Formats: sequence, C-alpha cells, structure tokens
Amino acid sequence: MRLRLPSTSAAMIHSNSLHKQIVSKPELGNEEFTQKVLNNRRWTLPSPEAKIHQLIHTQGPTFLLNTHPSFGDANRVNEQRKYFYVVRDDLLHPLVNGNKARKLDGLLPLLQHYSVTDVVTCGGCQSAHTAAIAVLCAERGIVSHLLLRGEQPEILTGYNLMSTMYGNVTYVPRTVYANREEMLKSYAESVAGNDGSVLWFGDIVQASSATELFTDPNFMQMDVSRSEENHLRKILVVSEGAGDSVALLGVIRLVQYLSQNHLLGKQRLMKFVVDAGTGTTAIGLGLAARCLGLPWEVYAVMLADKIDGYRKQEERLLSEFKKHFNIEFIDHNVNREDAGIVNWVERGRPRKFGNVLEGEVEACQQIAQQTGILVDPVYTLAAWETAMLLSSNEAEGGPEVVLLHTGGTLGMFGLAQRYKKYFGMLKKGHSH
Ligand SMILES: Cc1ncc(COP(=O)(O)O)c(C=O)c1O
Repeated sequence: MRLRLPSTSAAMIHSNSLHKQIVSKPELGNEEFTQKVLNNRRWTLPSPEAKIHQLIHTQGPTFLLNTHPSFGDANRVNEQRKYFYVVRDDLLHPLVNGNKARKLDGLLPLLQHYSVTDVVTCGGCQSAHTAAIAVLCAERGIVSHLLLRGEQPEILTGYNLMSTMYGNVTYVPRTVYANREEMLKSYAESVAGNDGSVLWFGDIVQASSATELFTDPNFMQMDVSRSEENHLRKILVVSEGAGDSVALLGVIRLVQYLSQNHLLGKQRLMKFVVDAGTGTTAIGLGLAARCLGLPWEVYAVMLADKIDGYRKQEERLLSEFKKHFNIEFIDHNVNREDAGIVNWVERGRPRKFGNVLEGEVEACQQIAQQTGILVDPVYTLAAWETAMLLSSNEAEGGPEVVLLHTGGTLGMFGLAQRYKKYFGMLKKGHSH
C-alpha cells in the first residue's frame, strides 16, 4: 500500500483571489512579550517539554524513525532521504489528546484560581475535547458536565467512553445542539440553581486584567485557601473545542520551549505543519512564531471549515488575545493572500469533515508498522501527508519541516466502530 499524495504542493496550498489582510506585529520585544504572557503563570502541564523525533523517508515511501535526532547541520539528509521532525504531543498523556493538553494548559489553573466547582462544555459524540476536560477536571475535584451531540451509541468506546468514565455526560438532540450557546447557558443555569453562579470565559479573564492576574501575589494561594463564598457552586462554561484566547497560551509556551537553542533554535527556517479543526492550535503556533520573532511558517490543513471560516477565526482569536492579555499590535494592511499568520492549505483529498476514504486506514497501518507512530485518518494523517509533501519538495538548505503530532489516538476506536468495512479489511494483515 502506497500513501497517496497530491503531486505538487501548489495543488494544495490554498489559493484564492488576492485578499486584503491585516498583518499584526506585537509592539513588544520578544522578551517583554514572554514576560507579559508566559512568565509567573501557573500551568496544567508541569513542563512544556515534548519529545522531538525525526522521520526520514525515501521515495516509495518507506519510513525510518530517529528518536534521538541532533539538531545541527550534520542532521541534513541527502536528496534521496528527506526528513521532517515530529513533535510528539501524542505522547503527552494517555487519555488527554495532545492538542487539548496544550489548549487547556493555561485554563485549568484559572479555574482553580476562581474556585470553579463545575465546568459545562460540549462536543460531538467522540469529542477529544470533552474527554480532556473530564479527565483534567476530575484530577482537580471539579465536576464536568459534558453535552454530547446526538444519541448515545450502543457501545461506548474511545473518547466517548472516557467522557463517560470521568464526567457527567448528557446526550443532546441535534436540533437543540444546533444552538450551542443557548444550550450551554440553560444547562449551566440548571446546574447553578438559585444560589450558584454561571461564568463565561470572557468574564474571568476580563474580571482581572492580564497584568493583575500575573502579578497578583495571592494568585498562587487562592485555590489553597478557599474562601467561605466558594462553598457555592460556580459554573464555568467552556466553549466547544476550547477555542478561546486562553487556549493560545499553552501553544505559545510550547513554541517557546521548541525554539530553545539546543532544540529547533531561533534562526533556522521552519515550516510547521498541523491539522486544523477549529484552527486554534494553528493560530497559536502562528501567533507565537510572530511574537517570539521566529522565522517559522505555519501550514494548517483545513479539515472542518473553509478558508473564509479559518480567516475569520484567525481575526477573532487575535483580537480576543489582544484584548484579554493586553497586548498592543501594530497592524498593517497588506494585499497578499499569504499575509495572515497561518497558511491554510487544502487536504490532498478533501472531503466532508470526519469522513475516511478508502486506503487511508491502511496508510495509517503502514506508518504505525514502520515507525511506531500512530496517526488517525481524520486528523493526523492529513498533517502527515502534508509534512511528507512539503519535505519532499524542499531543496537542500531550504526550510526544515516540523509536524506537530496533535494526538487523536482514541479517535481510532470510534472510527473502527463506524467504518467496519475499512477496519475489517485489516484483519487480513498488511504487506509492505
Ligand atoms: C487529533 C486532533 N488534531 C487536531 C484537532 C483540531 O485542533 P484545533 O481545533 O485546535 O484546530 C483535534 C480536535 O479535536 C484533534 O483531536
């Protein structure tokens, strides 16, 4: 089984008519930015560390994994053997999806700071987001209420099973789910009852401006010494997919970690590839690269929306970020289609979000067997194919390609249930 790849990168890098775009650059220097946004902050992950592996591929393709790459020029591979780096966020946690661990990295300490007792959020039946919220809240004694779209499946598996094990799941008819805000609000109000209160993320960020939050000497102790009023229930509503500006913090923290001199460094040209659902992770990467002054470009494979939706999301998150974290940007209007902070690219074989096409499960199997890395056909295979393509086309001395492996492991279980025809065929085994 060969991986199917589009023949040229031009076929997939999104091209549309010239687009008037705002390019924003922070007014602050890199260090000031780090000081303001990252330092003195509490995090969910004890360390931002991620393993970085190197995937070497030859035409065919066949793969070889190097788990201890050196990051110097000696690492450059010849014309026949191309490579990309893989940031192994899939290894961060067995149940919390990699990019959820990053997106929730800045959020959980805020919940503790505000003595939140309950979280209400929502997602699809196999939502990695709701499972991540459920696990991380349970660890902190916070009750999670997870509104899942549609009906309860006959067999609970994958992220759906984890949401059920760790949180309180309610299945919501699709017609009700269609109006998410209203659904979340009325559910949260019902949990709050007469005495409790309902908070939205915007409330907690704006209630105390970014600077106060970072420098407040009580910040570290607040959740230890809970005050009397905290016996009342405080319910926080977290949006679907945690696509709020606070989600960008963890991704920025990751980029800062990766850009250390002994890792990817700050000088080398890099093309970062990531799979995009809401696009939040990709936007976080792009924003971080710009704010930390790195010569890194972000390529995000559009899986759940179209280019206009992703550009709107980029604008929305950037303006929220500026507002919530009190960062001034200098904006320039530019008439260039690639002027945003992310290059949004089409998947080689576009399809309705969530669908798996013939041959893709075998492609995942081939990658798993040759490298020990599991990619899933919905999200991470798309990024893998793009990383293959970009690294194949890169001339020696050109930018290096880095794939952020966002996780998605448990997603395979839900897919195996849904796509019996593709997964059933794997029983016959797979020959290289
Ligand atoms: C494995 C994986 N990759 C990517 C995404 C999408 O991330 P984002 O919404 O930040 O674009 C998800 C979201 O559920 C995911 O599970």
